[in-house]
Amino acid sequence: MTHLNAGHLRCEYQENPLGIDVLNPRLSWRLFSDRRGARQTAYRIIAAPSADDVTAERNLIWDSGRVESDQSIHVVYAGERLRSRQRVFWRVQVWDETGSLAVGPIAWWEMGLLRRTDWSASWIGATLVGGRWTTIPAPLLRRSFTLDAPIVQARLYITASGLYECTINGQRVGEDVFTPGWTDYRQRVQYQVYDVTGLVRTGENAIGVILGDGWYCGHVAWSGRQQYGDRPKLLAQLVVTLANGKTQTIVSNRSWRYAFGPILESDILHGESYDARLEIPGWDTPDFDDSSWQPVELFTAPDIALVAMRGPTVRRHEELRPITPPTAFHSHQTTRWVFDLGQNMVGRVRLRVRGPAGVTVTIRHAEMLNPDGTIYTANLRSARATDHYTLRGDSDGEVWEPRFTFHGFRYVELSGYPGVPDMEAVTGIVIHSATPPTGEFSCSDPLINQLQHNIVWGQKGNFLEVPTDCPQRDERLGWTGDAQVFIRTAAFNMHVAPFFTKWIRDLEDAQSPEGAYPPVAPLAGIGGLTDGGPAWADAGIICPWTIYLCYGDTRLLEEHYPSMQRFVEYLERSSRDFIRCYEEYPGFRGFGDWLALDGSGRTDGGTAKDLIGTAFFAHSARLLSRIAAIIGRSRDATRYRRLFERVRQAFITRFVTGAGRVTGETQTGYVLALHFDLLPPELRPAAADALARDILARGVHLSTGFVGTPYLPHVLTSVGRLDLAYALLLQQTWPSWLYPVTQGATTIWERWDGWTHDRGFQDPGMNSFNHYAYGAIGEWLYATVAGIDVDPECPGYRHLVLRPRPGGGLTSARAALDTMYGRAVSDWHIDGDRFVWTIVVPPNTTATAYVPAVEGTIVQESGRPAEESEGVTLVQRDEETAVYRVASGNYTFVAERVG
Ligand code: BGC
Repeated sequence: MTHLNAGHLRCEYQENPLGIDVLNPRLSWRLFSDRRGARQTAYRIIAAPSADDVTAERNLIWDSGRVESDQSIHVVYAGERLRSRQRVFWRVQVWDETGSLAVGPIAWWEMGLLRRTDWSASWIGATLVGGRWTTIPAPLLRRSFTLDAPIVQARLYITASGLYECTINGQRVGEDVFTPGWTDYRQRVQYQVYDVTGLVRTGENAIGVILGDGWYCGHVAWSGRQQYGDRPKLLAQLVVTLANGKTQTIVSNRSWRYAFGPILESDILHGESYDARLEIPGWDTPDFDDSSWQPVELFTAPDIALVAMRGPTVRRHEELRPITPPTAFHSHQTTRWVFDLGQNMVGRVRLRVRGPAGVTVTIRHAEMLNPDGTIYTANLRSARATDHYTLRGDSDGEVWEPRFTFHGFRYVELSGYPGVPDMEAVTGIVIHSATPPTGEFSCSDPLINQLQHNIVWGQKGNFLEVPTDCPQRDERLGWTGDAQVFIRTAAFNMHVAPFFTKWIRDLEDAQSPEGAYPPVAPLAGIGGLTDGGPAWADAGIICPWTIYLCYGDTRLLEEHYPSMQRFVEYLERSSRDFIRCYEEYPGFRGFGDWLALDGSGRTDGGTAKDLIGTAFFAHSARLLSRIAAIIGRSRDATRYRRLFERVRQAFITRFVTGAGRVTGETQTGYVLALHFDLLPPELRPAAADALARDILARGVHLSTGFVGTPYLPHVLTSVGRLDLAYALLLQQTWPSWLYPVTQGATTIWERWDGWTHDRGFQDPGMNSFNHYAYGAIGEWLYATVAGIDVDPECPGYRHLVLRPRPGGGLTSARAALDTMYGRAVSDWHIDGDRFVWTIVVPPNTTATAYVPAVEGTIVQESGRPAEESEGVTLVQRDEETAVYRVASGNYTFVAERVG
């Protein structure tokens, strides 16, 4: 490919999306070329009502004209005002630096329902059953309808308070699960839009919906049911365009009828019970006689925002099979069969069974085994995480999978199973938000590769609608601190911009009137706490900032800027002399350095809360100052910069001695002071030494918790102790990242010592084996070991920082990352005396490439002296590194010692 191509067209991060409610959506595309230096110099976008119009360039609703610009992501639509349900076709033309032109394919997006009055549907549901603690059967809702003419197209706009699964003429609409997702239903609910043209037909039709409790009225954390409302409700509007030019709209209203069916209970935490004998064959087809069903109840529309979804939906992904035949445990009259899926996963079991009608199989889920081989469920706390299936008695067997629940597990226990289950009896269905993989990391050490595997599985399991702390016990909340520490790693592994775009709005919805960000978002299930405290509440600044860094998204910053400002001003008001969470502070002082193993014996670690608070106050003020500058508010930028300086000074006065000691002398104290630049420059070396000494004194072990751990390797790298960062990474005794790996872990554990040889399991009150927080080491693997990093001055990987830092005896490492511009690669290996490094810099981007090359090393690129190579310019050379500016393209550098 010597020519330029344009493609990968996206609108609001999505390919041909249905249901956009952003009035001026952003368009992005990629350039494809294998020529070095390929870059865009100009573009033109045209948009029109049909693909033919785009091709013929007529009836244009937008023509950007030729714009001399290298911008190829987040170009804001600036054409005619968009209307509800309008579909817009668009195309981009791109000129490169040689003047050649590429014309991209035609793409489209379709608007959702922009005004309240576009909805003529009513909220409907079944009669009230169940209470605060009793799980309830899932109602089936239905109606038949007639379409009088041939069909051109059909769209379903649908949402629920609770969860819905919709069928039309007996066929399932879409592949999403856990729709409409979790938001604060007191403020907003998302709707989905489906193209159901292929499901409806001229003549008789039927639409059916099953409603589950979900987060709306099912159990949330340890706080019982009905957090938002007492029963699930549906809102649905089917709009059919007919060939005769008319539109027929079928809506949820009092003409629908309901009955309770085979789902006797469904609850995210507790599980699902299904009695297949109660199935109602054909209930969602047109011929079904529903005269014995009840008329639905009608509800007044809640006064909340009804918004198109911005994040990805949750989907069923891969399937896992047992790795060995099940183990049997006989007791009394039952036999319990324990299956091992080989991987701690999140989702549910598809059961295969054959037996007599009325027999009930019970499915329990666990992450670990007890020493006797039975399943370890103590750490689930009150979550039953149990499904029941009662057989119909089909002679050729039955297959069942629950609908409205998920569990976190590696082991599956079946009891009540008729006969002896074979390996086919159990399949693990992996479920998570559809955040496509973007990153790969591997290196020469298999244990680190397993660590990376565990990080990715922790992310899959806990990115289910919101970023959760854990997927198994009675918790599964969008803990802000956990999300904040992991977001950067998450953005390497998967495309998480839409996922966080949605969740950051949840975070803002949960902001207190005073300006505090919450401990969890959506805010539910944890009682009255509204201020997340240091490192948790600060997610409200750190998360939008990180999405900006990784995806170049300034709109997110603009949108949430007023909210971020309210937060920092709240910090200013509630601190005393710029010390946040001072000792007598009457409010919540935070979770501390959560789960640090620093000898303090406390779950919140031994680092002082006012120290952590003030450090994060400084960090948030500084980030806000940078954000203000980026979105053009220079006065604010100066104001928050000054605020940062004041908080920093207060930090120094209160917590730093003249000898560079930080109060409490904890690793986390030093890490925060160094990472957030809170020390006078002359004291940094002393502080770095103190940190290093403490690590060595502990036999090369960290003592940090959720707060300090993510920054620790970066700090060690930046103070010249790369050796120690690697030593900690490679440490195999606890506390360390690799200890769980050596114990066969397949996900990241909540605690460094979740299980140890001498003590067995930690306190079951808090002992998750799938908690991504400590997986935040992932960003160091990508950015430092393999060497792909973002340049904050040129976000979204518009300019890449490629800087591998070999060490720890590794002989190779490789990372690949699908950026907004295309795939970047950094792949190095050591071959005798030679350092061989292949990099890929996506079209329309540039990179600074740091080749490790001590004095006396010659650096070549594709066989020629590097500085003479096409696309490569030497920037700087010092005793350790040769630094080049590199144009887009593929390169292989070889650094070799001579003489
Ligand atoms: C959660 C954490 C969370 C913490 C707050 C725990 O129960 O599992 O991950 O951040 O509470 O300290």
